[in-house]
Amino acid sequence: MFMVLKGVIFDLDGVITDTAEFHFRAWQDLGEKIAIPFDREFNEKLKGISRMDSLERILEHGGKNNAYTIEEKEALAKEKNDDYVELIKEITPADILPGVKKFLDDCLAAGLKLGLASASKNGPAILENLGLTDYFEIVVDPASLANGKPDPEIFLKGAEMLGLTPAECVGVEDAEAGVESINGAGMFSVGVGTADSMKEADMFVENTADLDLEAIIKAHSGK
Ligand code: BG6
Ligand code: MG
Repeated sequence: MFMVLKGVIFDLDGVITDTAEFHFRAWQDLGEKIAIPFDREFNEKLKGISRMDSLERILEHGGKNNAYTIEEKEALAKEKNDDYVELIKEITPADILPGVKKFLDDCLAAGLKLGLASASKNGPAILENLGLTDYFEIVVDPASLANGKPDPEIFLKGAEMLGLTPAECVGVEDAEAGVESINGAGMFSVGVGTADSMKEADMFVENTADLDLEAIIKAHSGK
């Protein structure tokens, strides 16, 4: 059935700005402190995953699932976030990934509604530093969700907050868990990443500079 595109729901980290790299650095530093080193390949499994769930995955990776109390885990997650918050203080509009500003402008010019579906509790502060707050009609509060990505809840909530059906939206993601969330919501998924990491996406680009609204509208209408 032909469906007109009315909204675009974005992930933030790794799609709008390169904070995915800051998350990696902050988790890797914490991992070294607790003797659980990990590489970029493992880090792919953390993208899109909430703070506490990421910590659980790291502990599991190191075979230390039961090594810490809840209070200690909360302290570890806070330590990572304190490091991360220091890193994101320096973010300015110059840190918007290539082509993203133009893509957002094209979306607004086409009359599309924009939403943010980030797992990050730091999302609103990052949008503010990037000077992009006003582009987004809604921001899903990750604290309001029962289930994080890869569950579809965050993208379903985003569409609902925009007053649109999932079929009227596309979701843009760089994380495997995020693409799974979009697909599960019954939404058209646009991936940013490698062919391998984005193999479940309905379409993908390797670089944000290649995000092309016309191509997306065409592919979405053909689904
Ligand atoms: C996602 C990132 O956007 O947000 C994850 O891809 C991160 O790496 C998650 O763990 C939660 O972020 P925060 O800022 O609330 O710790
Ligand atoms: Mg991301």
